[in-house]
Amino acid sequence: MISVRVDPPSTSPYDVYVGRHAANMVNRSIGEEVRKVFVVSQSNIPQIELSLDAEVQTVLVPDGEDAKSLEVVGDLLGRMSSFGLGRGDLVVAIGGGVVSDLGGFVASIYLRGIRYQTVSTTLLGQIDAAIGGKTGVNLPTGKNLVGSFWHPSAVYCDTDLLDSLSEREFKSGLGEMVKYEFLGASGLSLEELDESIARCAALKAEFVREDEREDGRRALLNYGHTFGHALESLGIAGRIERITHGEAVAKGIRFAAHLAHAMGRISDVELEEHYRALLKFSLDVSIPREVTIQDVMPFISRDKKNRGSITFVLAQSNHEPSVVRDVSVGELETALNAVHRYL
Ligand code: GLY
Repeated sequence: MISVRVDPPSTSPYDVYVGRHAANMVNRSIGEEVRKVFVVSQSNIPQIELSLDAEVQTVLVPDGEDAKSLEVVGDLLGRMSSFGLGRGDLVVAIGGGVVSDLGGFVASIYLRGIRYQTVSTTLLGQIDAAIGGKTGVNLPTGKNLVGSFWHPSAVYCDTDLLDSLSEREFKSGLGEMVKYEFLGASGLSLEELDESIARCAALKAEFVREDEREDGRRALLNYGHTFGHALESLGIAGRIERITHGEAVAKGIRFAAHLAHAMGRISDVELEEHYRALLKFSLDVSIPREVTIQDVMPFISRDKKNRGSITFVLAQSNHEPSVVRDVSVGELETALNAVHRYL
């Protein structure tokens, strides 16, 4: 079992455990004061038997992103209260990013905040969503618009559970993993998956320690997300075929590489390095030809990072990527044309 320490400035440190059977560790680590455990999960997630020395209530929320709504939050809070969950008790979120965002959020507001732990069952959750204390739900007007920073007391990344993912879900996690290649964790590999997951977790932990509230460097974790989110949103709106978050991020990294190249920030060789990293995990980085910059602009302008100008995280030769403001529509168009011309 590999353990990675996360040490956020605002709260006690906690560990992320990565390895086969990591979920079994929940049984050993809940703490003697815990009388009741409220488990939040989904029906399409492997059901994990927790044999705890505490009363357990499990609630399965709707599958998929639909669970991240204020309606579900209200329902969960009511059930937590009826169950008699107290301040010393525990929420355990078992699932991917949707469940850790939702379970973490209800834990953060119930009785003004109680402890929660996450058993992360997806690759995307294990390398990103479960770590770092961002919790929240969606509004009809956008994703993650209501939330809190509330850290788990432990995260279990059970890599056995990854075998139950569909190829598409697994690849979606790889799309998110690629971003770490450009943030200081190059050489990630499927052959050493547990170590690669732990390296991503450790890098994320470093960003969170330095910039917990995303006032600066943590924003770099959004590499590939600006254009990626726009494609994901076009899919949700039915304007293009629907794609997963990780698929969108992989395509977004491709676009961001061309944008950095078009702006003279990276060389031809560095552009090719982006393609090599994306292809290493056999990711589909095609961007539908019918998508124009006018199509993506409404979503790019709404991006939380924007603060009034078009903002991207972009690579820079011999440096870490950085947040670049005031990107012009013309530069975006040049980059998109370059994407379609590149063989
Ligand atoms: N998923 C990006 C972050 O946690 O900051």
